[in-house]
Amino acid sequence: MKHILHLKSSIQGATSYSIKLGNAIVDEIQQKYSGSTVEELDLVDLEIPHLNPEVLRTFFIPSDQLTEGEKESIQLSDRLVKQLFAADIIVIGAPLINFTIHSALKAWIDHITRAGITFGYGENGPIGMVTGKKVYVAMSSGGVYSEGPGKANDFVAPYLKAFLGFLGMTDLTVFRAEGLKVPGIKDYAFDKAIKSIEIH
Ligand SMILES: Cc1cc2nc3c(=O)[nH]c(=O)nc-3n(C[C@H](O)[C@H](O)[C@H](O)COP(=O)(O)O)c2cc1C
Repeated sequence: MKHILHLKSSIQGATSYSIKLGNAIVDEIQQKYSGSTVEELDLVDLEIPHLNPEVLRTFFIPSDQLTEGEKESIQLSDRLVKQLFAADIIVIGAPLINFTIHSALKAWIDHITRAGITFGYGENGPIGMVTGKKVYVAMSSGGVYSEGPGKANDFVAPYLKAFLGFLGMTDLTVFRAEGLKVPGIKDYAFDKAIKSIEIH
């Protein structure tokens, strides 16, 4: 039995492919680990603010020295970090928006990246502290980026792999619904993505 955190960051509501792909991944995980619990978090609905000077400042204040106002500022980040640590498996919906992730997903990343809590620095370099997690990424894109000419602009999967790895989430698998806008590919792109799902 696992606790699954399903993050969504689509701005296309019911028609979202990354949400449908994420849901299919969650279903497969539940089949593998019966009785697993699922927590869904729609990052677009949550409207996490950009990381700002006030919140950043509170990241570096020891928790027992925070004023009431500062506690308020850091509350959302603390909640998101706690939620992340509580999950065994994280499914991340990552629609491609202007060659990168949607800013709602970036805002989540900015709020869970906390020195001394989710990462640290040792004598031999950075140490990721969010360990023991499995991450599945449900990518969706109008174009094709895993191969062909688009590969030169394949920024999302490498970025998520590198950055979540930096935080300790090194076991990451990407499933792609790609070519969703490309004639000749779009008709089978989503089915192909669904068929590619393998839960380890
Ligand atoms: C504002 C916007 C920007 C987009 N930018 C790109 C892009 O840079 N490259 C691409 O291949 N597709 C792009 N698309 C297409 C989306 O990746 C595609 O619609 C995908 O299905 C989005 O995921 P979703 O269905 O979960 O919302 C863009 C779509 C929107 C709405």
